Order: sequence, then structure tokens, then C-alpha cells
Amino acid sequence: MTQKFEHRIDDYTERVNRCLEAALPPASVAPERLHEAMRYAVFNGGKRVRPLLAYATGECLGIDARFLDAPAVAIELIHAFSLVHDDLPAMDDDVLRRGKPTVHIQYDEATAILAADALQPLAFGILANLEGVAADARIELVRLVADACGSVGMTGGQSIDLAAEGEELSARELEHMYSLKTGALIHAAIVSACIVCDGLPQEKTAALDNFGSSIGIAFQIKDDILDVEGETHVIGKPAGADQRLDKATYPSLFGLERSRQRCAELLDSALANLEVFGDDAASLEWLARFIVERGQ
Ligand code: IPE
Ligand code: IPE
Ligand code: MG
Ligand code: MG
Ligand code: MG
Repeated sequence: MTQKFEHRIDDYTERVNRCLEAALPPASVAPERLHEAMRYAVFNGGKRVRPLLAYATGECLGIDARFLDAPAVAIELIHAFSLVHDDLPAMDDDVLRRGKPTVHIQYDEATAILAADALQPLAFGILANLEGVAADARIELVRLVADACGSVGMTGGQSIDLAAEGEELSARELEHMYSLKTGALIHAAIVSACIVCDGLPQEKTAALDNFGSSIGIAFQIKDDILDVEGETHVIGKPAGADQRLDKATYPSLFGLERSRQRCAELLDSALANLEVFGDDAASLEWLARFIVERGQ
């Protein structure tokens, strides 16, 4: 690859958006309001970081992007579902997401709950139908995404996040929560490419596994820093929302300086895991830096 990854981002984003478009039922099909809300949850301007990580890992391993469309779409659908629930009054009670009204504000709470409910199985159907990948790898992908989404992954992390409001967690406990609520899906996006790659040596699988774990935690620390330092019109969600809910976050428990330091440490350890791939990991390296340096 001669061109830099940042020049391919638009192409990959268009690519995953096209696949998402094909995966989601048209809003003209009954029940129209539910389908419209599902589309609203997915097509409202996300950064598509998880699909980009899957495609960048594919570049690193020499896998054709068409084999990564299904995991990229499935993980983005689960991510969209997690955001709809995360914003509900029963959880973070947020009214703004990606600069627009959250799904329960735009529609209503019941529609938001049901739209998220319906996004989740859609993701698994897409993995099950993945063509051109051996059946055992397909099953492994389903298992990977199921674990990343469930009570030992994102959902479990969200549960710990809610229980931790107003609590003093240790750094280890906090990072455990982050590795579940946010890290699990990010890690799964990277590992999905390892599963699709036939015969990947154990050493390289372990390196990408560790890369995914470090960068997933860094992603949430950066999200927390942006909640403190960012402006609502830039981050597209209400700034200061974590403080309002007395959330246990890295900045609230350890301060901004230590949060930035920990992000930098996690980036370094993530990048160290890419050394074994040499120049093939240039795109992943770019994305890892983007995750800790982004402004939204
Ligand atoms: C926000 O994720 C929620 C977290 C897991 C921190 P993103 O920052 O990836 O959200 P979008 O998809 O770009 O809106
Ligand atoms: C959310 O973390 C993680 C999810 C699993 C959705 P946050 O609650 O910090 O995410 P934002 O800031 O609302 O996007
Ligand atoms: Mg939350
Ligand atoms: Mg939230
Ligand atoms: Mg946040």
C-alpha cells in the first residue's frame, strides 16, 4: 500500500455504509417506524472506528476487505445498539448523540428500546450468512461477537458502569470496566480479521489480541477526557455528562494529567505489539494514534 491510510478512510467509510445500507431493512417496509428508528440509530454520523479497525487489521494481514465487511457491519450494528441503550433515561439519560437528538428523543423510549433490540440479532444473522469463509471460522466469529456483546463483554461493562456511579474504583477496577464496556467490541473488530485469516501464526494472533486490549481501554479514557475538555458542538454529545451523573471515570478519579499519561502508556504498549508486522501495520498504527489524539 503506497497511499497513507487517512486517504483510504473515506473509501472504507463509504464501503461499510453501503454494507450497512444493504443490511438494514428499508424504512418503507413494515413496521416502518421501527425500521426508521433503526436506520436513524445507525446512519447519524458515527466515526466508524470499529469497522476501520477491522479493515486496517485486514490490510496488516493481507486479507481482502470483502471478507471483513460482515464482521465490520455486525460490530457496528452492536455498537449502535449499545449507544441507543446507553442514552436511555434509565442509563445515561442523554438527549444528544452525534449532534442530533438521541433515538428516544427523536422517536420515543419504547421505539428506542425495540430498535436496539432489533439491531442486535441483525448483526448475528449477517455473520451467519458470511460467504467465502469456512464454516468453522464463521462460527468462531459468531462466538467472538456474542462474547464481546454479552454479560462478559459490553453489556457486563455497562452494568458495572451503572453500579459504579459515585463509587471510588481502583485503577485496576476501572480499567476492567473499560475493557468490557468499550474494549470488548474494539478488540473484537481487530480479532475478527485474525479469525478470517487462515493459518495466522500464534505469535501474530497474540500480538493483535494485546494491541486490541490496550487500544480499547485507551479509547474509553480518551472518551472520558473529551467529556471533560470537549465542547458539545464538537463532540456531538453533551459535554460534562459524566460529572452530572457522578460517573466513575479516569479523569474524575485520577485527574486529567494521569488520564493523559495512561492513554500515552496504553498507546505505547499497543504500538509495541505491532512491531512484529513491520510496515504492514502502518494503518493500524495510524488508527491507534487517532484514537488517543482525536478531538471527537
Ligand atoms: C462512543 O463511541 C461510545 C464509547 C464506547 C466510548 P464512539 O466514539 O466510537 O461513537 P461514534 O460511533 O463515533 O458516534
Ligand atoms: C459508553 O460509554 C460505552 C458503551 C458501551 C455505549 P459512555 O457512556 O461514556 O459513552 P458516551 O460518552 O455516552 O458515548
Ligand atoms: Mg454510559
Ligand atoms: Mg453515555
Ligand atoms: Mg462518554
